[in-house]
Amino acid sequence: MEFKKRHLLGIEDLDRDNISFILETAASFKEVSQRLIKKVPTLRGRSVVLIFYEPSTRTRVSFEMAAKRLSADTFSLSKATSSVTKGETLLDTAKNVEAMAPDLIVIRHPAAGAPHFLAQRLSCGVINAGDGAHEHPSQALLDMLTVKEHLGRIEGLKIVILGDISHSRVARSNILGFTRMGARVVVSGPATMIPPGIENLGAQVDLNPDRALEGADVVMALRIQKERQDESLFPTLREYSIHYGVNLARLKRAKEGALVMHPGPINRGVELDPAVADGPYSVILDQVANGVAVRMALLFLLMGGGKA
Ligand code: CP
Repeated sequence: MEFKKRHLLGIEDLDRDNISFILETAASFKEVSQRLIKKVPTLRGRSVVLIFYEPSTRTRVSFEMAAKRLSADTFSLSKATSSVTKGETLLDTAKNVEAMAPDLIVIRHPAAGAPHFLAQRLSCGVINAGDGAHEHPSQALLDMLTVKEHLGRIEGLKIVILGDISHSRVARSNILGFTRMGARVVVSGPATMIPPGIENLGAQVDLNPDRALEGADVVMALRIQKERQDESLFPTLREYSIHYGVNLARLKRAKEGALVMHPGPINRGVELDPAVADGPYSVILDQVANGVAVRMALLFLLMGGGKA
């Protein structure tokens, strides 16, 4: 199969074959991270610029690690240490970076659509590393790879996403991705955190978390995003934890051995009880490890390595 895309802006742009091809390519890159010398020459001489206007641990480090493991050169720009603090616009910033001839720009930005805006105006490829509450496609791909590895398939599974759906780009990308691959996605949480029309993306809504979790193959808890909430959407964190947090008792509603997932960072004791986050069914750190393989695959494919 040939992967002809130049940008990764959202899961909405990927069909089932594209997703399968990315996951297969990522799986083939996993062994590089098991080697003593974790480096292959595949992208030697290519360069990737990471522009992060929002904080990140997992996405930023894993994109950088992925690029370096493929021998690409990486350059990082954060809002706080760039000329954005002097008033430079996003487009001027990106155009100046483009003038230095990178092959790809990876961008995280608080505004939905910022990566799309750049992709229309730049000659290099653009990867969306999270745009506001819109999409976080590489996260959904690493989540799908993790489920496929542990359960052997995605088709026919029941995936329950629990928490702050309204502010979650991870939820949007995962709903699009898992449904496209044939899973049933149910979202649950306080009514104030479930956006109207989320069913149009393919998700079912069940406001009762205990009922939603019945028979789940995968339980994905989401972080309460206080930084994106203009007003409090529930009385207290303690009440949220009691009514919507995933604890051992609530997890029993799901299938025996259901996978516990979280994109991170976790508010421990709020959306996830530590006994669940660190329990035997948690695959949270596998998600992180798979982030490197998925991002290696994306860099490789978007830089023209898609002929197999
Ligand atoms: N999952 C995720 O996007 O984590 P970071 O914000 O740390 O990158």
